[in-house]
Amino acid sequence: MNEKNAHIAELIRDFTEKTVIFYDDLENMPVVPHVGKDTLDRVSAMTVPEKGRELDTVYREFLNDIFSSVSLSQHPRSFSCVPSTMSLLSWMGDVMTNAVNPHASCKLNAPTVDRIEKILIKWMCSLAGYPQGSGGLFVSGGSIANLTALTAARDTKLTFEERPKAVVYVSAQTHSSVAKGLHIIGFSNDQIHIINTDRSFRMDTSELLREVEKDIKDGKKPFAVVASTGTTNTGSVDPLYEISDICHKYNMWMHVDGAYGASALLSKTHGSELAGIELSDSLSWDAHKWMCQTYGCSVVLVRNRTQLVNSFAAHPEYLKDAEASPEAVEFWDLGPELTRPARGLKLWLTLQVLGSDEMGHVIDHGCDLASFAEKYICQKEGFEIISPAKLGIVNFRYAPTSTLSEEARDRINHEAAAELTKSGYAQVFTTELCGHKVIRLCTIHPETTEKDITETIDRLELLCKR
Ligand SMILES: Cc1ncc(COP(=O)(O)O)c(C=O)c1O
Repeated sequence: MNEKNAHIAELIRDFTEKTVIFYDDLENMPVVPHVGKDTLDRVSAMTVPEKGRELDTVYREFLNDIFSSVSLSQHPRSFSCVPSTMSLLSWMGDVMTNAVNPHASCKLNAPTVDRIEKILIKWMCSLAGYPQGSGGLFVSGGSIANLTALTAARDTKLTFEERPKAVVYVSAQTHSSVAKGLHIIGFSNDQIHIINTDRSFRMDTSELLREVEKDIKDGKKPFAVVASTGTTNTGSVDPLYEISDICHKYNMWMHVDGAYGASALLSKTHGSELAGIELSDSLSWDAHKWMCQTYGCSVVLVRNRTQLVNSFAAHPEYLKDAEASPEAVEFWDLGPELTRPARGLKLWLTLQVLGSDEMGHVIDHGCDLASFAEKYICQKEGFEIISPAKLGIVNFRYAPTSTLSEEARDRINHEAAAELTKSGYAQVFTTELCGHKVIRLCTIHPETTEKDITETIDRLELLCKR
Protein backbone atom coordinates (compact mmCIF):
# COMPACT_ATOMS: atom_id res chain seq x y z
CA MET A 1 0.00 0.00 0.00
CA ASN A 2 1.45 3.41 -0.82
CA GLU A 3 1.80 5.91 1.98
CA LYS A 4 -1.01 8.22 0.82
CA ASN A 5 -3.52 5.41 0.49
CA ALA A 6 -2.42 3.90 3.80
CA HIS A 7 -3.24 7.21 5.45
CA ILE A 8 -6.67 7.31 3.80
CA ALA A 9 -7.31 3.75 5.01
CA GLU A 10 -6.29 4.72 8.54
CA LEU A 11 -8.76 7.62 8.62
CA ILE A 12 -11.53 5.48 7.14
CA ARG A 13 -10.91 2.90 9.89
CA ASP A 14 -11.04 5.68 12.46
CA PHE A 15 -14.28 7.00 10.96
CA THR A 16 -15.82 3.53 10.87
CA GLU A 17 -15.06 2.96 14.53
CA LYS A 18 -16.36 6.38 15.55
CA THR A 19 -19.52 5.82 13.52
CA VAL A 20 -20.29 2.48 15.13
CA ILE A 21 -19.70 3.91 18.62
CA PHE A 22 -21.93 6.86 17.70
CA TYR A 23 -24.75 4.59 16.58
CA ASP A 24 -24.41 2.41 19.68
CA ASP A 25 -25.19 5.49 21.74
CA LEU A 26 -27.68 7.10 19.37
CA GLU A 27 -30.62 7.14 21.78
CA ASN A 28 -28.66 9.33 24.19
CA MET A 29 -27.82 11.91 21.52
CA PRO A 30 -29.95 15.01 20.98
CA VAL A 31 -32.13 14.45 17.91
CA VAL A 32 -31.48 18.00 16.78
CA PRO A 33 -28.04 19.23 17.84
CA HIS A 34 -27.44 22.82 18.79
CA VAL A 35 -25.48 24.55 16.04
CA GLY A 36 -23.27 27.29 17.42
CA LYS A 37 -22.84 30.56 15.55
CA ASP A 38 -19.08 30.01 15.59
CA THR A 39 -19.48 26.71 13.72
CA LEU A 40 -21.71 28.29 11.10
CA ASP A 41 -19.30 31.20 10.75
CA ARG A 42 -16.38 28.83 10.27
CA VAL A 43 -18.20 26.83 7.59
CA SER A 44 -19.45 29.97 5.84
CA ALA A 45 -15.88 31.21 5.61
CA MET A 46 -14.68 28.02 3.86
CA THR A 47 -13.72 28.23 0.18
CA VAL A 48 -12.36 25.90 -2.47
CA PRO A 49 -8.56 26.18 -2.07
CA GLU A 50 -6.19 26.61 -4.99
CA LYS A 51 -3.64 24.38 -3.32
CA GLY A 52 -4.59 21.17 -1.54
CA ARG A 53 -4.74 21.04 2.27
CA GLU A 54 -3.75 18.46 4.87
CA LEU A 55 -6.11 15.48 4.82
CA ASP A 56 -6.17 15.29 8.65
CA THR A 57 -7.32 18.89 8.91
CA VAL A 58 -10.09 18.40 6.34
CA TYR A 59 -11.13 15.15 8.04
CA ARG A 60 -11.43 16.91 11.42
CA GLU A 61 -13.50 19.69 9.80
CA PHE A 62 -15.93 17.07 8.57
CA LEU A 63 -16.28 15.57 12.03
CA ASN A 64 -16.33 18.74 14.10
CA ASP A 65 -17.96 21.33 11.89
CA ILE A 66 -19.80 19.77 8.97
CA PHE A 67 -21.37 16.65 10.46
CA SER A 68 -21.90 17.87 14.01
CA SER A 69 -24.84 20.07 13.05
CA VAL A 70 -26.90 17.45 11.26
CA SER A 71 -30.35 16.57 12.65
CA LEU A 72 -30.58 12.84 13.22
CA SER A 73 -33.59 11.69 11.24
CA GLN A 74 -32.43 8.13 12.02
CA HIS A 75 -32.81 8.75 15.77
CA PRO A 76 -35.45 6.58 17.49
CA ARG A 77 -37.16 9.76 18.71
CA SER A 78 -37.29 11.44 15.32
CA PHE A 79 -41.03 11.55 14.62
CA SER A 80 -41.12 14.33 12.02
CA CYS A 81 -41.52 14.11 8.22
CA VAL A 82 -40.71 10.51 7.32
CA PRO A 83 -37.94 9.54 9.74
CA SER A 84 -35.07 7.47 8.46
CA THR A 85 -35.14 3.82 9.51
CA MET A 86 -31.61 3.26 8.23
CA SER A 87 -29.75 0.19 9.34
CA LEU A 88 -25.98 0.10 9.68
CA LEU A 89 -26.16 -2.77 7.18
CA SER A 90 -27.43 -0.33 4.57
CA TRP A 91 -24.59 2.03 5.45
CA MET A 92 -22.14 -0.86 5.03
CA GLY A 93 -23.67 -1.66 1.63
CA ASP A 94 -23.42 2.02 0.70
CA VAL A 95 -19.77 2.25 1.69
CA MET A 96 -18.87 -0.91 -0.21
CA THR A 97 -20.85 0.06 -3.32
CA ASN A 98 -19.40 3.56 -3.43
CA ALA A 99 -15.88 2.23 -3.00
CA VAL A 100 -16.24 -0.03 -6.04
CA ASN A 101 -18.23 2.67 -7.87
CA PRO A 102 -20.00 0.47 -10.44
CA HIS A 103 -21.48 2.20 -13.46
CA ALA A 104 -24.75 0.38 -13.01
CA SER A 105 -26.58 1.41 -16.14
CA CYS A 106 -25.89 -1.51 -18.42
CA LYS A 107 -25.10 -5.22 -18.17
CA LEU A 108 -21.70 -4.93 -19.81
CA ASN A 109 -20.24 -2.66 -17.15
CA ALA A 110 -21.37 -4.64 -14.12
CA PRO A 111 -23.17 -7.86 -15.10
CA THR A 112 -23.61 -9.29 -11.61
CA VAL A 113 -24.69 -5.97 -10.14
CA ASP A 114 -27.18 -5.61 -13.00
CA ARG A 115 -28.48 -9.10 -12.22
CA ILE A 116 -28.91 -8.34 -8.48
CA GLU A 117 -30.87 -5.13 -9.16
CA LYS A 118 -33.07 -7.06 -11.62
CA ILE A 119 -33.75 -9.76 -9.01
CA LEU A 120 -34.76 -7.08 -6.53
CA ILE A 121 -37.00 -5.30 -9.05
CA LYS A 122 -38.66 -8.61 -9.94
CA TRP A 123 -39.20 -9.42 -6.26
CA MET A 124 -40.74 -5.99 -5.60
CA CYS A 125 -42.95 -6.31 -8.70
CA SER A 126 -44.18 -9.67 -7.44
CA LEU A 127 -44.89 -8.22 -3.96
CA ALA A 128 -46.94 -5.54 -5.70
CA GLY A 129 -48.80 -8.26 -7.62
CA TYR A 130 -47.56 -7.10 -11.03
CA PRO A 131 -47.64 -9.60 -13.93
CA GLN A 132 -44.94 -10.94 -16.27
CA GLY A 133 -43.58 -8.11 -18.40
CA SER A 134 -43.49 -5.70 -15.48
CA GLY A 135 -40.24 -4.05 -14.47
CA GLY A 136 -38.65 -0.92 -13.13
CA LEU A 137 -35.62 0.89 -11.96
CA PHE A 138 -33.85 2.03 -8.81
CA VAL A 139 -33.95 5.84 -8.58
CA SER A 140 -32.89 8.38 -5.99
CA GLY A 141 -36.24 8.93 -4.27
CA GLY A 142 -40.01 9.11 -4.43
CA SER A 143 -39.99 12.46 -6.23
CA ILE A 144 -38.00 11.07 -9.15
CA ALA A 145 -39.99 7.81 -9.09
CA ASN A 146 -43.22 9.82 -9.43
CA LEU A 147 -41.76 11.95 -12.23
CA THR A 148 -40.52 8.86 -14.09
CA ALA A 149 -43.84 7.03 -13.84
CA LEU A 150 -45.86 10.09 -14.87
CA THR A 151 -43.66 10.58 -17.92
CA ALA A 152 -44.56 7.04 -19.01
CA ALA A 153 -48.23 7.79 -18.26
CA ARG A 154 -48.13 10.92 -20.43
CA ASP A 155 -46.41 9.19 -23.34
CA THR A 156 -48.67 6.12 -23.19
CA LYS A 157 -52.00 7.87 -22.87
CA LEU A 158 -51.57 11.11 -24.83
CA THR A 159 -50.53 12.12 -28.30
CA PHE A 160 -48.41 15.23 -28.49
CA GLU A 161 -51.41 17.18 -29.81
CA GLU A 162 -53.59 16.08 -26.89
CA ARG A 163 -51.21 17.38 -24.21
CA PRO A 164 -52.73 20.89 -23.92
CA LYS A 165 -56.18 19.39 -23.16
CA ALA A 166 -54.88 16.76 -20.77
CA VAL A 167 -56.03 16.50 -17.14
CA VAL A 168 -54.52 14.50 -14.28
CA TYR A 169 -56.27 13.89 -10.94
CA VAL A 170 -54.65 13.94 -7.54
CA SER A 171 -56.18 14.18 -4.07
CA ALA A 172 -55.93 17.01 -1.60
CA GLN A 173 -53.50 14.75 0.32
CA THR A 174 -51.22 13.83 -2.61
CA HIS A 175 -47.54 14.57 -1.97
CA SER A 176 -46.23 17.82 -3.44
CA SER A 177 -43.60 15.97 -5.51
CA VAL A 178 -46.37 14.82 -7.86
CA ALA A 179 -47.31 18.36 -8.91
CA LYS A 180 -43.61 19.22 -9.13
CA GLY A 181 -43.01 16.25 -11.44
CA LEU A 182 -46.04 17.13 -13.54
CA HIS A 183 -44.76 20.68 -13.97
CA ILE A 184 -41.36 19.38 -15.05
CA ILE A 185 -42.96 17.21 -17.73
CA GLY A 186 -44.99 20.07 -19.11
CA PHE A 187 -48.34 20.32 -17.30
CA SER A 188 -49.69 23.50 -15.76
CA ASN A 189 -51.53 23.84 -12.46
CA ASP A 190 -54.82 24.13 -14.39
CA GLN A 191 -54.28 20.61 -15.69
CA ILE A 192 -53.91 19.12 -12.21
CA HIS A 193 -57.36 18.64 -10.71
CA ILE A 194 -57.41 18.24 -6.96
CA ILE A 195 -60.08 15.87 -5.64
CA ASN A 196 -61.25 16.30 -2.05
CA THR A 197 -60.76 13.57 0.50
CA ASP A 198 -63.31 11.92 2.79
CA ARG A 199 -63.19 11.97 6.60
CA SER A 200 -60.46 9.34 6.51
CA PHE A 201 -58.32 11.48 4.19
CA ARG A 202 -58.92 9.12 1.24
CA MET A 203 -59.68 10.36 -2.25
CA ASP A 204 -63.43 10.89 -2.70
CA THR A 205 -64.07 8.66 -5.70
CA SER A 206 -67.64 9.96 -6.30
CA GLU A 207 -66.14 13.40 -6.81
CA LEU A 208 -63.39 11.90 -8.98
CA LEU A 209 -65.96 10.26 -11.24
CA ARG A 210 -68.03 13.44 -11.48
CA GLU A 211 -64.95 15.51 -12.33
CA VAL A 212 -63.72 13.08 -14.99
CA GLU A 213 -67.13 13.00 -16.69
CA LYS A 214 -67.48 16.77 -16.53
CA ASP A 215 -63.99 17.28 -17.98
CA ILE A 216 -64.74 14.91 -20.87
CA LYS A 217 -67.94 16.86 -21.59
CA ASP A 218 -65.91 20.07 -21.57
CA GLY A 219 -63.63 18.66 -24.29
CA LYS A 220 -60.71 17.85 -22.00
CA LYS A 221 -58.64 14.67 -22.02
CA PRO A 222 -58.38 12.97 -18.60
CA PHE A 223 -55.33 10.71 -18.75
CA ALA A 224 -54.13 9.77 -15.27
CA VAL A 225 -55.09 9.45 -11.61
CA VAL A 226 -52.49 9.48 -8.85
CA ALA A 227 -53.56 7.39 -5.86
CA SER A 228 -51.56 7.13 -2.65
CA THR A 229 -50.83 4.18 -0.40
CA GLY A 230 -49.73 6.00 2.70
CA THR A 231 -50.19 9.75 2.39
CA THR A 232 -47.50 11.82 4.05
CA ASN A 233 -49.84 13.62 6.42
CA THR A 234 -51.94 10.75 7.73
CA GLY A 235 -50.83 7.42 6.19
CA SER A 236 -54.22 7.13 4.49
CA VAL A 237 -54.64 4.71 1.60
CA ASP A 238 -56.87 5.77 -1.29
CA PRO A 239 -59.69 3.42 -2.44
CA LEU A 240 -57.63 1.59 -5.03
CA TYR A 241 -60.32 -0.71 -6.48
CA GLU A 242 -62.70 2.16 -7.12
CA ILE A 243 -59.97 4.31 -8.64
CA SER A 244 -58.91 1.41 -10.85
CA ASP A 245 -62.53 0.96 -12.08
CA ILE A 246 -62.72 4.64 -13.03
CA CYS A 247 -59.32 4.48 -14.75
CA HIS A 248 -60.41 1.44 -16.73
CA LYS A 249 -63.71 2.97 -17.76
CA TYR A 250 -62.06 6.14 -19.07
CA ASN A 251 -58.77 4.70 -20.29
CA MET A 252 -56.64 6.52 -17.74
CA TRP A 253 -53.29 5.56 -16.24
CA MET A 254 -53.38 4.69 -12.54
CA HIS A 255 -50.21 5.66 -10.71
CA VAL A 256 -49.79 4.76 -7.04
CA ASP A 257 -47.51 6.89 -4.94
CA GLY A 258 -46.37 4.30 -2.43
CA ALA A 259 -43.14 6.13 -1.64
CA TYR A 260 -44.05 6.01 2.02
CA GLY A 261 -46.46 3.10 2.42
CA ALA A 262 -45.66 0.47 -0.22
CA SER A 263 -43.20 -1.15 2.19
CA ALA A 264 -46.25 -2.35 4.14
CA LEU A 265 -46.51 -5.03 1.44
CA LEU A 266 -43.81 -6.80 3.45
CA SER A 267 -46.02 -7.09 6.51
CA LYS A 268 -48.19 -10.16 6.95
CA THR A 269 -50.53 -8.04 9.10
CA HIS A 270 -50.70 -4.76 7.19
CA GLY A 271 -50.00 -5.81 3.59
CA SER A 272 -53.70 -6.36 2.89
CA GLU A 273 -54.40 -2.66 3.60
CA LEU A 274 -52.83 -2.00 0.20
CA ALA A 275 -55.12 -4.41 -1.69
CA GLY A 276 -55.77 -3.13 -5.19
CA ILE A 277 -52.20 -1.89 -5.66
CA GLU A 278 -51.78 -4.77 -8.14
CA LEU A 279 -54.22 -3.04 -10.49
CA SER A 280 -52.09 0.07 -10.89
CA ASP A 281 -50.02 0.87 -13.97
CA SER A 282 -47.10 2.19 -11.96
CA LEU A 283 -45.85 2.44 -8.40
CA SER A 284 -43.31 4.56 -6.51
CA TRP A 285 -41.74 2.83 -3.52
CA ASP A 286 -39.01 4.27 -1.31
CA ALA A 287 -36.74 1.77 0.40
CA HIS A 288 -35.07 4.72 2.17
CA LYS A 289 -38.27 5.41 4.07
CA TRP A 290 -39.41 2.15 5.69
CA MET A 291 -36.97 -0.50 4.48
CA CYS A 292 -34.02 0.49 6.64
CA GLN A 293 -32.01 2.10 3.82
CA THR A 294 -29.79 5.17 3.80
CA TYR A 295 -31.00 7.89 1.43
CA GLY A 296 -31.07 7.53 -2.30
CA CYS A 297 -32.83 4.16 -2.52
CA SER A 298 -36.20 4.06 -4.21
CA VAL A 299 -37.85 2.18 -7.05
CA VAL A 300 -40.28 3.04 -9.78
CA LEU A 301 -42.19 -0.02 -10.99
CA VAL A 302 -44.47 -0.35 -14.01
CA ARG A 303 -46.79 -3.20 -14.92
CA ASN A 304 -45.52 -3.04 -18.52
CA ARG A 305 -41.81 -2.31 -18.74
CA THR A 306 -42.05 -1.45 -22.43
CA GLN A 307 -43.85 1.74 -21.46
CA LEU A 308 -40.73 3.00 -19.68
CA VAL A 309 -38.59 1.96 -22.65
CA ASN A 310 -40.88 3.91 -25.00
CA SER A 311 -40.39 7.07 -22.94
CA PHE A 312 -36.72 6.84 -22.09
CA ALA A 313 -34.68 4.65 -24.45
CA ALA A 314 -32.09 6.41 -26.59
CA HIS A 315 -29.39 4.70 -28.59
CA PRO A 316 -26.57 7.17 -29.18
CA GLU A 317 -23.59 5.99 -31.23
CA TYR A 318 -21.17 6.32 -28.31
CA LEU A 319 -23.09 3.70 -26.29
CA LYS A 320 -23.52 1.10 -29.02
CA ASP A 321 -20.48 -0.90 -27.83
CA ALA A 322 -21.89 -0.99 -24.30
CA GLU A 323 -25.27 -2.40 -25.30
CA ALA A 324 -25.49 -6.16 -24.84
CA SER A 325 -27.43 -6.32 -28.12
CA PRO A 326 -29.45 -3.82 -30.18
CA GLU A 327 -32.69 -5.23 -28.67
CA ALA A 328 -31.41 -5.44 -25.08
CA VAL A 329 -33.12 -3.26 -22.50
CA GLU A 330 -30.59 -1.63 -20.19
CA PHE A 331 -31.32 0.33 -17.02
CA TRP A 332 -30.44 3.55 -18.85
CA ASP A 333 -33.41 2.81 -21.15
CA LEU A 334 -35.86 2.92 -18.24
CA GLY A 335 -35.42 6.36 -16.72
CA PRO A 336 -33.89 9.80 -17.02
CA GLU A 337 -30.38 8.89 -15.80
CA LEU A 338 -27.51 7.59 -17.87
CA THR A 339 -24.73 7.08 -15.31
CA ARG A 340 -26.25 5.73 -12.14
CA PRO A 341 -24.92 4.20 -8.93
CA ALA A 342 -26.01 0.68 -7.96
CA ARG A 343 -28.63 1.91 -5.51
CA GLY A 344 -30.03 -1.58 -5.03
CA LEU A 345 -26.90 -3.24 -3.65
CA LYS A 346 -27.23 -1.89 -0.12
CA LEU A 347 -30.84 -3.06 -0.04
CA TRP A 348 -29.64 -6.46 -1.23
CA LEU A 349 -27.07 -6.64 1.56
CA THR A 350 -29.65 -5.62 4.17
CA LEU A 351 -32.23 -8.14 2.95
CA GLN A 352 -29.69 -10.94 2.72
CA VAL A 353 -28.72 -10.44 6.35
CA LEU A 354 -32.12 -9.57 7.89
CA GLY A 355 -34.46 -11.49 5.59
CA SER A 356 -37.76 -10.14 4.35
CA ASP A 357 -39.69 -11.39 7.43
CA GLU A 358 -37.65 -9.12 9.67
CA MET A 359 -38.46 -6.20 7.37
CA GLY A 360 -42.14 -7.11 7.80
CA HIS A 361 -41.68 -6.94 11.58
CA VAL A 362 -40.23 -3.44 11.20
CA ILE A 363 -43.49 -2.39 9.52
CA ASP A 364 -45.60 -4.06 12.21
CA HIS A 365 -43.59 -2.36 14.96
CA GLY A 366 -44.13 1.09 13.40
CA CYS A 367 -47.87 0.48 13.02
CA ASP A 368 -48.19 -0.89 16.56
CA LEU A 369 -46.40 2.12 18.02
CA ALA A 370 -48.71 4.58 16.25
CA SER A 371 -51.73 2.69 17.65
CA PHE A 372 -50.10 2.70 21.09
CA ALA A 373 -49.53 6.47 20.79
CA GLU A 374 -53.16 7.00 19.76
CA LYS A 375 -54.44 5.12 22.83
CA TYR A 376 -52.10 7.01 25.13
CA ILE A 377 -53.15 10.39 23.71
CA CYS A 378 -56.83 9.47 24.13
CA GLN A 379 -56.28 9.24 27.91
CA LYS A 380 -54.98 12.82 28.06
CA GLU A 381 -57.43 15.51 28.99
CA GLY A 382 -57.84 18.27 26.42
CA PHE A 383 -56.31 16.32 23.53
CA GLU A 384 -58.14 15.07 20.47
CA ILE A 385 -57.15 12.66 17.73
CA ILE A 386 -57.41 14.22 14.27
CA SER A 387 -56.34 11.18 12.27
CA PRO A 388 -56.20 7.79 13.97
CA ALA A 389 -53.14 5.57 13.65
CA LYS A 390 -52.67 4.47 10.07
CA LEU A 391 -49.50 2.94 8.65
CA GLY A 392 -47.36 4.32 11.45
CA ILE A 393 -48.76 7.89 11.54
CA VAL A 394 -51.06 9.55 14.05
CA ASN A 395 -52.20 13.20 14.25
CA PHE A 396 -53.60 14.94 17.30
CA ARG A 397 -53.87 18.32 18.93
CA TYR A 398 -54.41 20.02 22.21
CA ALA A 399 -57.85 21.58 21.98
CA PRO A 400 -59.29 22.11 25.46
CA THR A 401 -62.98 22.94 25.64
CA SER A 402 -62.23 26.35 27.03
CA THR A 403 -62.73 29.69 25.37
CA LEU A 404 -59.41 29.50 23.54
CA SER A 405 -59.61 30.84 20.00
CA GLU A 406 -58.62 28.63 17.06
CA GLU A 407 -55.56 30.82 16.50
CA ALA A 408 -54.47 30.31 20.10
CA ARG A 409 -54.91 26.53 19.79
CA ASP A 410 -52.85 26.49 16.59
CA ARG A 411 -50.15 28.55 18.26
CA ILE A 412 -50.02 26.35 21.38
CA ASN A 413 -49.65 23.15 19.34
CA HIS A 414 -47.06 24.69 17.06
CA GLU A 415 -45.02 26.10 19.95
CA ALA A 416 -45.13 22.84 21.92
CA ALA A 417 -43.75 20.86 18.96
CA ALA A 418 -41.10 23.49 18.30
CA GLU A 419 -40.05 23.64 21.98
CA LEU A 420 -39.77 19.87 22.26
CA THR A 421 -37.68 19.76 19.09
CA LYS A 422 -35.46 22.54 20.38
CA SER A 423 -34.90 20.62 23.61
CA GLY A 424 -33.21 17.85 21.59
CA TYR A 425 -35.26 15.08 23.23
CA ALA A 426 -37.41 14.35 20.17
CA GLN A 427 -38.11 15.91 16.81
CA VAL A 428 -41.80 16.60 16.26
CA PHE A 429 -43.40 18.73 13.55
CA THR A 430 -46.92 19.98 13.07
CA THR A 431 -48.94 19.74 9.90
CA GLU A 432 -52.34 21.10 8.88
CA LEU A 433 -55.48 19.00 8.72
CA CYS A 434 -59.15 20.09 8.59
CA GLY A 435 -58.01 23.70 8.86
CA HIS A 436 -56.14 23.12 12.15
CA LYS A 437 -52.50 22.94 13.11
CA VAL A 438 -52.00 19.44 14.45
CA ILE A 439 -49.11 17.52 15.92
CA ARG A 440 -48.02 14.63 13.72
CA LEU A 441 -46.08 11.60 14.91
CA CYS A 442 -44.54 9.17 12.42
CA THR A 443 -43.40 6.27 14.59
CA ILE A 444 -41.63 3.96 12.15
CA HIS A 445 -38.14 3.66 13.60
CA PRO A 446 -37.49 0.00 14.48
CA GLU A 447 -35.77 0.91 17.76
CA THR A 448 -38.37 3.35 19.07
CA THR A 449 -39.81 2.08 22.34
CA GLU A 450 -43.17 2.60 24.04
CA LYS A 451 -41.31 4.63 26.66
CA ASP A 452 -40.00 6.96 23.91
CA ILE A 453 -43.62 7.48 22.88
CA THR A 454 -45.10 8.07 26.36
CA GLU A 455 -42.25 10.39 27.36
CA THR A 456 -42.62 12.39 24.12
CA ILE A 457 -46.38 12.76 24.61
CA ASP A 458 -45.98 13.63 28.30
CA ARG A 459 -43.48 16.35 27.42
CA LEU A 460 -45.79 17.70 24.72
CA GLU A 461 -48.65 17.73 27.23
CA LEU A 462 -46.60 19.73 29.70
CA LEU A 463 -45.63 22.21 26.99
CA CYS A 464 -49.22 22.59 25.77
CA LYS A 465 -50.62 23.08 29.27
CA ARG A 466 -47.94 25.37 30.69
C1 LIG B 1 -46.06 9.92 -0.14
C2 LIG B 1 -44.75 10.50 -0.56
N1 LIG B 1 -44.46 10.61 -1.88
C3 LIG B 1 -43.31 11.13 -2.31
C4 LIG B 1 -42.36 11.59 -1.44
C5 LIG B 1 -41.08 12.17 -1.95
O1 LIG B 1 -40.06 11.25 -1.74
P1 LIG B 1 -38.51 11.69 -1.75
O2 LIG B 1 -38.38 12.65 -0.63
O3 LIG B 1 -37.79 10.40 -1.55
O4 LIG B 1 -38.23 12.31 -3.08
C6 LIG B 1 -42.61 11.52 -0.06
C7 LIG B 1 -41.63 12.03 0.92
O5 LIG B 1 -41.83 12.06 2.10
C8 LIG B 1 -43.83 10.94 0.39
O6 LIG B 1 -44.12 10.84 1.70
